[in-house]
Amino acid sequence: MTKKWWKESVVYQIYPRSFCDSNHDGIGDLNGIRGKLDYLKELGINVIWMSPVYKSPNDDNGYDISDYQDIMDEFGTMADFDALLQEAHERGIKIVMDLVVNHTSDEHAWFVESRSSKESEKHDYYIWREAKDGKEPNNWGSCFSGSAWEWDENLQMYYLHCFSKKQPDLNWENPKVRDEVFSMMDWWCQKGIDGFRMDVISMISKPEGLPDAPTHGGLYGDNQITCNGPHVHEYLQEMNERVLSKYDLMTVGETAGVTLEEAQKYANAAGTELNMVFQFEHVGLDAGTVDKWCKDPIKITELKENLTKWQTGLADVAWNSLFFCNHDQPRVVSRLGDNSPKSAKCIATMIHMMQGTPYVYQGEELGMTNCAFPSVEEYRDIEAINAFHELTEAKMREPEELFECINYKSRDNARTPMQWNAEKYAGFSDAEPWIMVNPNYTEINAEAELKDEDSVFHYYQKLISLRRFSQWKDCIVYGNYQLLSPENPSVFSYTREYEGMKLLVICNMTAQTTEYEIPVTVGENAQVLISNTENSDLKQTMTLEPWQAGVWQI
Ligand code: NOJ
Repeated sequence: MTKKWWKESVVYQIYPRSFCDSNHDGIGDLNGIRGKLDYLKELGINVIWMSPVYKSPNDDNGYDISDYQDIMDEFGTMADFDALLQEAHERGIKIVMDLVVNHTSDEHAWFVESRSSKESEKHDYYIWREAKDGKEPNNWGSCFSGSAWEWDENLQMYYLHCFSKKQPDLNWENPKVRDEVFSMMDWWCQKGIDGFRMDVISMISKPEGLPDAPTHGGLYGDNQITCNGPHVHEYLQEMNERVLSKYDLMTVGETAGVTLEEAQKYANAAGTELNMVFQFEHVGLDAGTVDKWCKDPIKITELKENLTKWQTGLADVAWNSLFFCNHDQPRVVSRLGDNSPKSAKCIATMIHMMQGTPYVYQGEELGMTNCAFPSVEEYRDIEAINAFHELTEAKMREPEELFECINYKSRDNARTPMQWNAEKYAGFSDAEPWIMVNPNYTEINAEAELKDEDSVFHYYQKLISLRRFSQWKDCIVYGNYQLLSPENPSVFSYTREYEGMKLLVICNMTAQTTEYEIPVTVGENAQVLISNTENSDLKQTMTLEPWQAGVWQI
């Protein structure tokens, strides 16, 4: 397996709006991030992926970009960005930018021109269609509720928006669109950025003829029909040839709807497309049949089966990204865990010891939990707000029941302000934040955890340092993965092997004490690398404490 810096890295995702506010407006910003670089250095990560910081009217918190080569007013200036990049580099930290090019904002100059007239030079930059029988061209639904088509009075045509109506989809079939995107990317590379996380990149090539999609009992067609379209690999290969291959970058595709077979192409080891992808099967295991708004728990056996499929399916032919949390997911400690620091450490061990590049989402390293939003009025996320109204108005769901589910799954759970200390507004800002602070900030915060050797922060720090600097690092990064005890409903256990070295990972993924008979011989001289409990002795039969996790060299 070829060794690469991006395989040996640990990435930290920042959602700038909620990370740290330096200018007293209740909104995080670039200078806020700058002020926390030493904290990130201490955690041990070496790459930051920043959610979008570009000019945006913020219909979807920056994922609706109106100027790719300028900075959002609330976040600062291009000079602030340059300073951040330089200061990060001085600390050996790379910066990966979010690249949102499936769509722009409707306020982007391209769209303004596109909708000005059918004759405009940029009309064909977006996906316009005539009405069909006086209605939308097909049954596609937007990921944020409602139809994926918006009527334009002036042009008497519909435009496609797979997300909000303020996020019109770009027409990648138009070579001029690709030229524009690639030259913009090149401009950022020239500036010295270190890579791209590519937003819904699996959706850029729409299916031929834009056919109706199956509805599965929902109001609209299934969005999966827009994923992995006929030309997506062609476009990425062109992007690779014209931009990516000219620089030493980390690239990760956010590939909604990706299958293992597709991922093997996107992240192929020959390097003709991207370095790795985010796949979402494991975080979709608790989705309902119609949508994600339900509270069923993820079954540990299914989780093991799924993650193992990805571990073995991409080994040698592609590369995995390892994550549970990001700005679109509820907090994993409230989802797989029981909100306790011990469960946070257990889940972290399970995912960080796998093969792939780990991503830590801001606050995950503190064990930050879901937030109990008291009412719909406290939500800020367009997805949650629209879903609540659409499904209750269509009488498809009862308001109380749906509210419970949204509280559990909403993206806003991940977007509450970073909990820096126990002062007002959690030290995130001295003005009222744009979204409510999780009331548990007085107990869960960075200042307290930095002082506590036994904290979730210090556990993450150790996991990261094992992967980046220890004598076991090659085994942790490149070692062969083998699942143990697939049928065990509580224990997630596997081995990693590399050049004669063998590591054993054991995680009791439940709040119950569990007996575990280790199915491989552990011998006498096992050495513990990390453990979340006092008693870390390895025995052939273990009585595992609730959420006990450990890693041993055997
Ligand atoms: C995926 C992003 O992660 C999400 O936050 C955003 O709303 C959509 N893509 C649309 O850009």
